[in-house]
Amino acid sequence: MDDLVQLHKDGDVAIITINNPPVNALSPGVAQGVEHAIAAAEKDESVSAVVLIGGGRTFIAGADIKEFGKMTSGEKPRGAGLLPLLLRIEDLNKPVVAAIHGTAFGGGLELAMACHYRVAVPNAQVGQPEVKLGIIPGGGGTQRLPRLVGVAKAIEMCAEGNPISAIEAQKLGLVDRLIDGDLLRQAAAFAREVKGKIIKTRERDDKDKLGDSQQNAPLFASAREKARSKQRAMIAPLAAIDAVEAATTLPFDKGCEIERELFRKCLFSDQSKALIHIFFAEREVSKIPDIPKDTPTIPINSVAVVGAGTMGGGIAMVLANAGIPVLLKDADQPSLDRGIATIQKNYSSSVKRRRFTQQFVDERLKLIKPTLSFEDFRNVDLVVEAVFENMALKKEVFARLNQVCRGGAILASNTSTLNIDEIASASSRPQAVIGTHFFSPANVMRLLEIVRGRATAKEVIATCMQLSKKLGKVGVLVGNCRGFVGNRMFHHYVREAVFLVEEGATPQQVDQALYEFGMALGPLATGDLAGLDVGWRIRKEYRHLEKPGVRHAIVGDRLCELGRYGQKTGAGWYKYDENRKPTPDPEINATVRQWAVEAGIPQREITSQEIVDRCIYALVNEGARILEEGVALRAGDIDIIYVSGYGFPSYRGGPMWYADTVGLKNVYEQLCDFHRRFGELWEPAPLLKRMALEGGTFAEFTNARAVA
Ligand code: NAI
Repeated sequence: MDDLVQLHKDGDVAIITINNPPVNALSPGVAQGVEHAIAAAEKDESVSAVVLIGGGRTFIAGADIKEFGKMTSGEKPRGAGLLPLLLRIEDLNKPVVAAIHGTAFGGGLELAMACHYRVAVPNAQVGQPEVKLGIIPGGGGTQRLPRLVGVAKAIEMCAEGNPISAIEAQKLGLVDRLIDGDLLRQAAAFAREVKGKIIKTRERDDKDKLGDSQQNAPLFASAREKARSKQRAMIAPLAAIDAVEAATTLPFDKGCEIERELFRKCLFSDQSKALIHIFFAEREVSKIPDIPKDTPTIPINSVAVVGAGTMGGGIAMVLANAGIPVLLKDADQPSLDRGIATIQKNYSSSVKRRRFTQQFVDERLKLIKPTLSFEDFRNVDLVVEAVFENMALKKEVFARLNQVCRGGAILASNTSTLNIDEIASASSRPQAVIGTHFFSPANVMRLLEIVRGRATAKEVIATCMQLSKKLGKVGVLVGNCRGFVGNRMFHHYVREAVFLVEEGATPQQVDQALYEFGMALGPLATGDLAGLDVGWRIRKEYRHLEKPGVRHAIVGDRLCELGRYGQKTGAGWYKYDENRKPTPDPEINATVRQWAVEAGIPQREITSQEIVDRCIYALVNEGARILEEGVALRAGDIDIIYVSGYGFPSYRGGPMWYADTVGLKNVYEQLCDFHRRFGELWEPAPLLKRMALEGGTFAEFTNARAVA
């Protein structure tokens, strides 16, 4: 046998072991290896049953995702995929038992389902997660799964892509036996039990669980409705539902043909390419050229958070959720009490929503210790500062931390706009200072921008990157500049949204166009959610830096002057009821229109296309500057920031990938048009211009200077 798949015998049971570390992906050679092993087991008369098992820490975690790219680029011919091998296994005249530990996902589960029996350790997981990559199972998964678990569960698993535990799989009939202890030994014993018995009905001929059209019609209708609302605009979930439906109406072989067709349609779509890009980009973010994987890290066993407000409270919860003890400090008792009360309220609503159990929450709350004294910080490994966004105050806090914290402790700031180097200058150990920019609500949002200061030590960066994973966040290293990556780009996006309102669009039109583009929430509704006063304060602080003669928005400031700060004041761009449900406010729309007219801004009809192009290309143009400056390491890092922190649709791959998809030449031409019509804010970024003219893509761009 070759390296990837081994065959050996345990008495009369042939053991086929797949050894393709780290996750036994179905890379080239694995399917062939299994096929050869099956053929050998068939020929060997002394073999009466077969066990198929994964070596190392898992069964087969899925396809080799790199292979999908090769298929769409034409590098790899379109084959029939796994199907012939699966039929070969199913047709074998000796029982084949899949022995599952770790995960059996995607093609891994399809392979297991083609075996005659499945046994699994209780903590194994099985699933068809393909939709998360914009595709559907392509090896008969949508046809076999409903035959094993019933139509409703198969629709859910194929269309939503979430795994189930082996325990649930056993209840559903997908796993025949749960095995505690030595999986291989007991799987071989199971194989001996079933050898010689009539092989269990071939799954593909089994129709018992497929229901009839009357029972199934409402299941398919409600699944489609759910997919349309929860996985808005995505084609794969609907294709998965269509494929499962084919299983209920067509013979197995015909159903597989339909599945294959739908699989190909999805694989060749821009959505799947974008989602696969996001999959790889998320793995890439942790690679930092000058910080190798073996960089030493600092153990983080206790943390202090300064400031028990919106962010500090959320950050304390994130840390406690990961099992890390937290000291939570505020300036005075009432603020501290308020902070703790908010944490308790948030936790109890999680219990109500069944996200956490009461016991879990009680344990977390015990980990959060309120304090008013910096003196308690002497032994902590990390401090996260989240006081008001004010440089003098932050410097005061860092000077104090410098006095009390032990050498080697990390001093992090959650600032969203301020200069990390200036904050670091307040301590005598700038190498220990770093930005950890969480997003609101900190206990929900996955993004963590990790801001590298001029002097930040590599161990400090490596530790924060590692910690982000432990906290369930995606940590992206960014350079130190105003707004870092996410907010710096967002500023341009919102600017255009407000300009569009000033030129004649309503706030609803702007938000709707971007919602239809796929954003989770339109920019103006986002402003209302975050608080319009936040941006207003920042604008006032930096007004002196604005170049004379360059247009700046006026109506956003005027709204704030009226006390319309958004949801928290019951009104902003929209009106809000006591449940914070928005409704358009015709009066304020008319007032805004009047302000714009008074300011001499010509009014016109504005199309949805213009709204999308101006807002999204504003992101792209600034993203190109950020990339060239080396503030982000890669275009993919920017995409991850936008997908995980700003509600950018993952099926469009993030703003930079989206621009690549549109074609940088097309984007550039549109920018030139905007530049001509709307002035210097639209000057194309030099990198974008160069790439458009040379025919490059952001995805290919590497910046030698980019160590942030
Ligand atoms: P907040 O106003 O809700 O909370 C600030 C807290 O700091 C208050 O409880 C205040 O009493 C406390 N505080 C002030 N001085 C203190 C001192 N000397 N010692 C201890 N505690 C002190 O503010 P928020 O929104 O939580 O922001 C905190 C930081 O996080 C700011 O730097 C902000 O820019 C940043 N940030 C805010 C985001 C947001 O959406 N609110 C998002 C990301 C970052």
